[in-house]
Order: sequence, then C-alpha cells, then structure tokens
Amino acid sequence: MHASEFAPVFRDEPDDRTGVVVAGLGTCLPRAEISNAVLAERLDTSDEWIRTRTGIAARRRAAPDSSMTDLACAAAANALRSADRGAVDALVLATTTPDRPCPAAAPEVAHRVGLGTIPAFDVSAVCSGFLYATATAAGLIHAGIADSVLVTAAETYSRIVDPADRSTAVIFGDGAGAVVLRRGSVREAGALLAFDLGSDGADKDLIHLPGEREQPAGRRWFTMAGRKVYLQAIERMTHSALRVINDCGWTPETVGAVVAHQANARIIGAVADRLGVPPEAALCELARVGNTGAASIPVALADAVDGGRLRPDARTVLTAFGGGLTWGSVALTWPRLAPVRTEI
Ligand code: UT7
Repeated sequence: MHASEFAPVFRDEPDDRTGVVVAGLGTCLPRAEISNAVLAERLDTSDEWIRTRTGIAARRRAAPDSSMTDLACAAAANALRSADRGAVDALVLATTTPDRPCPAAAPEVAHRVGLGTIPAFDVSAVCSGFLYATATAAGLIHAGIADSVLVTAAETYSRIVDPADRSTAVIFGDGAGAVVLRRGSVREAGALLAFDLGSDGADKDLIHLPGEREQPAGRRWFTMAGRKVYLQAIERMTHSALRVINDCGWTPETVGAVVAHQANARIIGAVADRLGVPPEAALCELARVGNTGAASIPVALADAVDGGRLRPDARTVLTAFGGGLTWGSVALTWPRLAPVRTEI
C-alpha cells in the first residue's frame, strides 16, 4: 500500500494542516557486548569476514534475567524523559521476539512505565516494525483518537537465533528504542511528511521462525535466506524511500540523512548509492550493536544525533525492510531533541 494519502504532504509552501511530530527519543541496550572474536571462537567465521561483509564489530546480548519487555520499558521511559512528558494517550510496540505469544507486551509496558490504562497493543512486522508502528501511531493521531503516542520497538534476537548458525548469529543483536509522537503542525521540524508501506507474503519463508504446527518437534530457530534477503532489501528500501522523497517534493541530493534498517553496512551503502543521496547522508550506526531488528532505526537515530551526524532540520528519510516480507519509509525534517539512552 502506498500510504502517503493519509499523511500530510509538504511541498515548501505555507501549510497549517495537522502534523504528527517526533517529540522525544529514547533507547536501552543490554550492557553485555559480544565481539566478533568471541563468536569466532565457536563458529566457523572470522572477525575479518564479519566486518567486511556486514560492518558489524559487536552486538549486545540481554542478560539471562532480562526480557524484551524490560528493554522496551526502559526505552519507553527514556523517550518520555527526552520529550519531557509524564503521559501519552496510547502506546504501540513493535517486536519480533515477544516474551510470550499472549498477551501482547504493550499493556505491560504502559503499566510498568506508569502510563495507566491507555490503549496499548503490539504490531508484528519484523524489521519494518518500528515504521509500521509509527504509521499506526500517526493514524491514531490523524483520526483524533490520540494526541500523543509512544512508539516502542524492542528485540531479544539472542533468544531465537541459533547460536550455532553463523549466518544469523553474527548479525543479530538485542536492544530497544522508542519515540514520542505528538499532534502538531506539518510546518514544524520533526513532522512526519510522507509514508510508504508494503508487503509481499509470497516470500514469507525468506525470514522465518516456525510455529508449533509448522515444526511440532525440536527447538525452533529463526532462519534467514541471507543472499535473497540482501537483494530484496536493497530493491525494496530504495524504491520505498524514493516514493517518500518524491511525495515531499524533494530531490535525492537535498536529503541530509537516510537512516535505513541497520542490517548490513553494504546494504545501507547500496541503498544510498541507488537513491543518489550524498554519500555522507547514509548513516551507518551498526558497528557496535549489529542488527537489532525493529529497534534498529530508533537506536541508530539516537547514536547519529549524539555523534553529530544527524542535525536539526536535516531532510531525513527512514526506510526499513524485514520478514513478511515487509518494508516501509517515512520522510521528516529532523527535530531538535536530546535522546536519552541507558544500558541494563
Ligand atoms: O533484518 C532483516 C533483514 N536482513 C538483512 O537485510 C540481512 C541481509 N543479508 C545479509 O546481510 C547478507 O546476505 C549476509 C551477511 C547474511 C551474508 O553475506 P553475503 O555476502 O550475502 O554472503 P552469502 O550468503 O552469499 O554467503 C557467501 C559465503 C557462503 O559460503 P560459500 O557457499 O560461498 O562457500 C556462506 O556459507 O559466506 C559464507 N558465510 C560465512 N562465512 C564466514 C555465511 N556466513 C558466514 C560467516 N562467516 N558468518
């Protein structure tokens, strides 16, 4: 679906339409860092292979007594602190790695963060989850159901990745990120200006974690057809990002930041190259965290802001690709905000 119909479109002309504005950003990463060298001790791989093929030097692993929901709560609380708010009207949580199939984690996060009895629910769109959740939250605001929404993405991939599978164990890591969205004006920095979302279930098996019916016996692990996913990720993210750039009336060379799903440095470089954005606009923030799934975009945003690579008013494109298959993009001008980051 091309979703820009329900998002305000910005064309450099006076406009007082309602906008959905990014007002706060928080993250939480597990403290434990697993280096490439540690993985190379037990897998047929090497630091050199992982760095050159993916750009990853280390990933985080949640402590045994720490859950996806714990990471989500900390990131959500940090985003509220960054936005200087104690309350929001709704919470949408994206995860591929729920602590349990039922119930969803979002009500527990809302409760633990002190948000009371607000509407709260999970969305499942694998590595595109943060952008799907963001689009859902924007819809709640445009529909008049909420004035502010906390969008949270959290993952504990270490619980579903086969530690003996070198093709996934070297890539995925644990972490969480969150943003506060609030009703505002499309003229404000931070306003979400255009969306694009899509899916293709014909390729559902390329990124897969079997259910009990699909695999009744034995331990079920997450699998990924790396090369096929690699090619699709470049194709889908490029196409989707171009749609939102065009919808905003921008040209690629005026884009200041592209924050693509942080899966692989080569994918990020190839997407930027195909888009025709300035090379320095392609933000690659995965070296010390790996691929944190749905959390990768907010985690990368916080690192890029604190590192001075993402500045207020930059024309910014977020684009993601993941299992399902799913993909999506959103365009915004980056707001002035200070991310709040913690580790547990
Ligand atoms: O987050 C959801 C979206 N995910 C992604 O976007 C990830 C997309 N895929 C990728 O990032 C890459 O495909 C990988 C990093 C997973 C693999 O890199 P590649 O350049 O596509 O390698 P490949 O799968 O084509 O494999 C090349 C070789 C194979 O060996 P042979 O068959 O050529 O002998 C693999 O078995 O590299 C081998 N290989 C490894 N070697 C050392 C695969 N993983 C490893 C490893 N260490 N960790």
